[in-house]
Amino acid sequence: MKEDVQEIAKKHIEQNDYLGWFEEIYQKGKNEGLEIPWVSQEVNPYVKYICEKLNVEGNNKQALVIGCGLGEDSEYLSGLGFQVDAFDFSPTVIEWCKQIHTERGVNYFVADLLDLPKDLPKYDFVLEIYTLQTLPISEREKAIFSLPSIIKHGGEMVLICRIKDIDEITEGVPFPLTLSELATLQTSLILTSSERLLSDQDAWKRICNVYKKP
Ligand SMILES: C[S@@+](CC[C@H](N)C(=O)[O-])C[C@H]1O[C@@H](n2cnc3c(N)ncnc32)[C@H](O)[C@@H]1O
Repeated sequence: MKEDVQEIAKKHIEQNDYLGWFEEIYQKGKNEGLEIPWVSQEVNPYVKYICEKLNVEGNNKQALVIGCGLGEDSEYLSGLGFQVDAFDFSPTVIEWCKQIHTERGVNYFVADLLDLPKDLPKYDFVLEIYTLQTLPISEREKAIFSLPSIIKHGGEMVLICRIKDIDEITEGVPFPLTLSELATLQTSLILTSSERLLSDQDAWKRICNVYKKP
């Protein structure tokens, strides 16, 4: 990840503030033009790839995007015909989404994956990309366990993240997941597809898993 973004993350994490770095990054991105590595103003190519591969069609069904960032993937799912809810922990990025995406009616709101709103409905399609890997490892299990509860029976979840071997040491943010962490999802979800994703931009290992809730 870019050096200045790593510096901001490090400063917060050293003070045990695992979530505040996103707010500072988005404020600096919005107000000072800081380049945010995951913001591209286009749908993530892996999201597009997997949706096309699975022939995903919205048909007015309900979708949820977790840690939506600047909303590129949320707008894409809306374009596929879903009614989309999208949340992020950062109030600045949610405000930013509302300013720049005025056409499609995606419902952007502030929420915390570690403390989901009690009235959150269950969804036909859930997208989680690159949020679990930003959470402190001590909190991750709680977040992973909460995911099945927001999917409807018969619904699907696409999960895309960086992965690492159990004994692999990585520097800075994000904190890649191990396959055994992801395996806990299979206590209540069926893994219907799993694919390693290759990048010509970097050497990180990534995975795209698709789950169905029986
Ligand atoms: C690396 S960014 C990825 C954003 C987006 N998914 C994408 O791929 O462009 C991680 C996002 O997760 C959000 N996030 C981190 N922790 C969160 C939490 N506990 N609840 C909700 N969102 C969170 C951050 O604010 C940030 O927008």
